[in-house]
Parts: sequence; structure tokens; C-alpha cells
Amino acid sequence: MSAQKVLKLSDLKQDAAVRVVIDDIPIAVVLDSNGEVHAIGDTCTHGDISLSDGFVEGETLECWAHGSAFSLRTGRPLNLPAYEPVPVYEVTIDGDDILIDPHVTKEVN
Ligand code: FES
Repeated sequence: MSAQKVLKLSDLKQDAAVRVVIDDIPIAVVLDSNGEVHAIGDTCTHGDISLSDGFVEGETLECWAHGSAFSLRTGRPLNLPAYEPVPVYEVTIDGDDILIDPHVTKEVN
């Protein structure tokens, strides 16, 4: 598998998340306030909630249901009730295209 075109940069709004599903894998794609694009697993690890329906705050995406905020860099929740991380995906920008490989997650420390 390789990276697939999933969105255009122009499809994203700053500090907002867009849900995409690639090969049945739901991913939240976020343009942060620094203009950086992130891709993390879209399903909250506390419940079956789409994180892209939540709120972008700095470099976090907060679940609307119970307030766990997941780091866009590491996928880790920064507060309870969620305690398991979501996967983080490599994002490639090619011109106006955003490419993501849903089968390759980033190693984060
Ligand atoms: S379902 Fe996301 S914090 Fe509870």
C-alpha cells in the first residue's frame, strides 16, 4: 500500500478537522493554526465517537463527548477519561494534494 490522495489543502479550514475513510480506516485530518496538517485516528479510544466532530485547540483534538484532548503529534490523550492513544499517520503534501497512507503509522516517542 502507499499514500493516497485524500483531500486538497483547500478542503481544510484552519483549526478544524475533516473525517476521511481510507480502506475502511477512519482518519481525522486537521489543519492547525500554524498551517501544519495532521492525521490521527478518528475514533476516540474511550468510546465510539468521531474525534473530527470535536474541537481543535492548538495541537490537540478534543473529543466532544467527555473532553479527552488527543495530541495531534503523538496521538496520546492529555487527560482522562481516555488513556489509550490513537494512531498518528504520516502526511505528505504534494502541491495542493494531501496524501496519507492509512497502513503506515508514525513512530512517536
Ligand atoms: S468518548 Fe471520547 S472522551 Fe469519552
